[in-house]
Amino acid sequence: MTRPQVRSDIALRKGYHSPQIDVDVRLNTNEAPAAPPEGFDTALHEALDNIAWHRYPDRGATALRTKLAARYDRAVEEVFVANGSNEVLQTIMLTFGGAGRTAAVFEPTYALHAHISKTTGTAVVEGVRRDDFTLDLDEVRRIVETHEPDVLFVCSPNNPTGLVDPPDTVDAVLDIMSGTNGLLVVDEAYGQFSPTSAVGKIADDVPLVVSRTFSKTWSMAAARLGYLLAPAWLVEELEKVVLPYHLDAFKQAAGVAALEFGSAMDERVALIIDERARLLQQMADLPVQTWDSGANFFLFRAAEMGGDELWQALVDRSILVRNCASWPRLDGCLRVTIGTPEENDAFLAALGEILQ
Ligand SMILES: Cc1ncc(COP(=O)(O)O)c(C=O)c1O
Repeated sequence: MTRPQVRSDIALRKGYHSPQIDVDVRLNTNEAPAAPPEGFDTALHEALDNIAWHRYPDRGATALRTKLAARYDRAVEEVFVANGSNEVLQTIMLTFGGAGRTAAVFEPTYALHAHISKTTGTAVVEGVRRDDFTLDLDEVRRIVETHEPDVLFVCSPNNPTGLVDPPDTVDAVLDIMSGTNGLLVVDEAYGQFSPTSAVGKIADDVPLVVSRTFSKTWSMAAARLGYLLAPAWLVEELEKVVLPYHLDAFKQAAGVAALEFGSAMDERVALIIDERARLLQQMADLPVQTWDSGANFFLFRAAEMGGDELWQALVDRSILVRNCASWPRLDGCLRVTIGTPEENDAFLAALGEILQ
């Protein structure tokens, strides 16, 4: 049999890989360090008892979207939900990208922005951030004027650098994009850990969407649940594209149950922010460079040890962080997720042992 021909642009590409190794301390994928709060399991079980399993789920995910809308003080029509924020981003690209269209990213940033764009047949133009990884508005202008992207991605806090853009960046980028037909997508997967958000800028006549997720703050990476806040007209377009009944009843119930625990989640976020400050402060005494972060992770690089070597030395001590050393412009860098205080202590002890 001759194999059916894979689309040539897909055949040439590598898939998404994030190595999972069996270790004691996993600080590599920016998940929440703890299971959902006490009471969540009971609430979810009760909700599951009420699911009509033989019926399709509520296609509009009304209960979940209503709760999210209330949390952000937006209208329910301004909320779109999907299977993880990756599916949110994919739906945006299926709607606004495609053949003959262009997306812009500013590297280094979240690899899936370019990956998803390309999968949808969208051309990707890569701008670069400054050497300190901040977003350079002159570079944004150059990219917009040269390519007039249909979609422009900004990630704040940015993954993998952790950097938060100043609050006026979104206005400045929108201003640069005005006069084009482009859409600004602000990925706030880590927004809860950061002091600023673009959600307040969403309005009917502003070409802006903000995506968020239950994977980080809400301790629900396993559930695959993400959402987007956007003008109602835009959500309506996304609903045309997404598969019917894409969000199963189980997941909708899990999201609704989780949102009952808002204050417990806020406390956890505060703890992670404190732990982030503690780790960064303690690492100041080690021969490493660190980057400030507004997320539940940060980037670091050893002064006198290669990234691969340091990553392996941590794995040898049963600690897994993300090895970014071979990523463009991240020579020697590793990214560590903030874990529980005990996990963070184990990471610090291992790092101290390796570097001193
Ligand atoms: C910046 C960014 N956006 C989106 C995602 C995807 O999150 P989700 O689990 O909601 O698909 C991630 C996951 O790590 C991320 O880092």
